[in-house]
Amino acid sequence: MTAANLFWPSDYSGMIVNHLRSNPSLAQGRRVCDIGTGSGILAATALHLGAVDVVATDLDVDALTLARQSFARVAPDARFDLRQGSVWEPVAPAACFDLVLANLPNFPAEVIATDGRRATWSVGGADGRQAIDPFLAGLPQRLHFGGTAIFTQNRCVGLGLTLDKLRQDGLVAEVLDSTLVPIGPEKIGALSSARTEPSGIVEVAGFVFLCVDLIVAERIAHPGQDADIAMSDSGPQTGAYV
Ligand SMILES: C[S@@+](CC[C@H](N)C(=O)[O-])C[C@H]1O[C@@H](n2cnc3c(N)ncnc32)[C@H](O)[C@@H]1O
Repeated sequence: MTAANLFWPSDYSGMIVNHLRSNPSLAQGRRVCDIGTGSGILAATALHLGAVDVVATDLDVDALTLARQSFARVAPDARFDLRQGSVWEPVAPAACFDLVLANLPNFPAEVIATDGRRATWSVGGADGRQAIDPFLAGLPQRLHFGGTAIFTQNRCVGLGLTLDKLRQDGLVAEVLDSTLVPIGPEKIGALSSARTEPSGIVEVAGFVFLCVDLIVAERIAHPGQDADIAMSDSGPQTGAYV
């Protein structure tokens, strides 16, 4: 299997791509961070729409190599910085963004007999939240006032929990799109029973779908706080450069 096939984008990323293409001002002139970049499709779409600066992270060095090619293909003159590591760890502590994108693994399972993908592509641990929770924990301080985060999540791992965390952190969060993604027999067998919202799983005639939500969260600038998107400097990057 080639690297491009191994990291071929999924329906989940398609939802984010669709939202960006329908709202290009979210990307135009913006500083973007793509967490778990994989093929690089999310940040590449932002670059294609006019983003000026991208930081992308992934655990997998092969993903970063492919993402670099994707970025260079759509925006050879843009600034992009690819960093290997988990979630926010490789991102410079002071770095702040106008737009944060993520389609992190959150399939509720410990192990999946994969269809050729690496396990890190979709396995989210028993509760499905092992990457989502650190992502949410770091998000508020990574968004400029006026900035937006767009990410996907399987509803069964806890839509209410995610929205509560975002709102407690002062972000305005809502679900702007939802779809059903079919899951194959090998994944059905791996589904953990620890999932928090069984209503996120739809079964018809033995075929199983996961309900996937597109969540959009904004850090609203309050009176006296100017929106500061695309204006401040992220400072030196400290993670391993790939
Ligand atoms: C579902 S894939 C989506 C990738 C990308 N959005 C796309 O469509 O090509 C999830 C990606 O997150 C990466 N990943 C998994 N766990 C991670 C973690 N803890 N920190 C950063 N990246 C992670 C995987 O290597 C994979 O590339």
